[in-house]
Amino acid sequence: MDFELTEELTMVRDMARTFADEVLAPRATKADRDGFIDPEVFAKIGELGLWGLTIPEAYGGAGMGNLALSLVLEELNRACASTGVTVSVHNSLLGAPIKRHGTEEQKKRWMPKLATGEVLGCYCLTEPNAGSDAGALRTTAVLDGDEWVIDGTKIWVTNGGIAGLAIVYVRTDPSASNSKGISAIVVPMDTKGVTVGKPEKKTGIRGSSTTEVVFEGVRVPKDHLLGGLNRGFPIALETLDGGRIGIASQAVGIAQACLDRAVKYSKEREQFGQPIAEFQAIQWKLADMATRIDASRALVHKAAWLRDRDERCTREAAEAKMFASQTANFCADEALQIHGGAGYTDDFDIERLFRDARITEIYEGATDIQRIVIARAVLA
Ligand code: CAA
Repeated sequence: MDFELTEELTMVRDMARTFADEVLAPRATKADRDGFIDPEVFAKIGELGLWGLTIPEAYGGAGMGNLALSLVLEELNRACASTGVTVSVHNSLLGAPIKRHGTEEQKKRWMPKLATGEVLGCYCLTEPNAGSDAGALRTTAVLDGDEWVIDGTKIWVTNGGIAGLAIVYVRTDPSASNSKGISAIVVPMDTKGVTVGKPEKKTGIRGSSTTEVVFEGVRVPKDHLLGGLNRGFPIALETLDGGRIGIASQAVGIAQACLDRAVKYSKEREQFGQPIAEFQAIQWKLADMATRIDASRALVHKAAWLRDRDERCTREAAEAKMFASQTANFCADEALQIHGGAGYTDDFDIERLFRDARITEIYEGATDIQRIVIARAVLA
């Protein structure tokens, strides 16, 4: 067993760290307040090759794996969780399924533009009546000649307002029980009949785009079907194995940012004649935070490593997502407590981190769903 990162992984992590410190961190508060990310940031992400980090070199990407992506995502999220989730969803929920399930023709058609960030991606699964029970989705696709005709409404679509390409999960066999009759179809967002709703007003990750997307009589060619007919639900869940590693990496980044700020503040803030870091009560908090972060990072890296070996990592991804997201919330809460009243104002980043941390226990499968996934694996 080797815990040392390769030279290539160290390089890509350090590049992301420098970018996060120099470009993202100074803009994170503004993105949170404006409700969008400066387009210049997107351009720089493209220059660094991060939109195409996991896209094979043959299609214009950097050809790196999930471990590289999790290292990069930890760094980006340490500075700005809104940017972090945008990059995570693009790579893991759109790029990855096309890479893993697309035909050669589909890869050639869509991947080069995803690799540069000329086109960003989104993943349309959730519906008003199909959240945790994703298999209950009702959006339909009916074959009419050589075209699919799609009708339905998707909600909580990350990147909905900025994406040029979507994978839409649709019911193609209405007679099949729940998850059986579902297919995955790739839809360019500028197709007639696609309408993007207003951005959701969220508690955190406010700079990222989250919208409803409505499909009304949307026609796309028959060959936009990704993977087999009625085999879309396993693709959706297999894709979420990777997506959950991304959100777990986000959680580690947020948790680390909380610890870094708590350490700094507790060394500066003096009470009862000494820096509060001298008090054991504060030291214990810092020790618990550091230990949980190290454990979370190890779970994330193990899941990413398995996925890079093309091994099933459903349980490991769920464990990483559950533990890291709980850790992010624990660390945000403890860091805020250490900051006292100051942490409850927007003079300090802690209140943004506190709000950003909360979503990591909800999207891409709530903690309760991760428990179901883990328990099924344990009992199998
Ligand atoms: N990899 C490959 N195949 C898988 C799989 C995986 N990880 N998990 C399940 N499958 C397969 C099963 O083997 C089964 O295949 P068959 O049809 O051949 O039998 C099929 O998929 C259905 O699996 P289940 O019977 O386990 O499905 P279920 O209906 O019981 O659902 C669930 C299980 C775990 C509850 C699942 O519905 C789930 O994960 N729900 C949460 C959904 C979720 O995470 N949503 C977030 C959406 S994205 C988002 O948050 C917004 C965003 O943009 C970021």
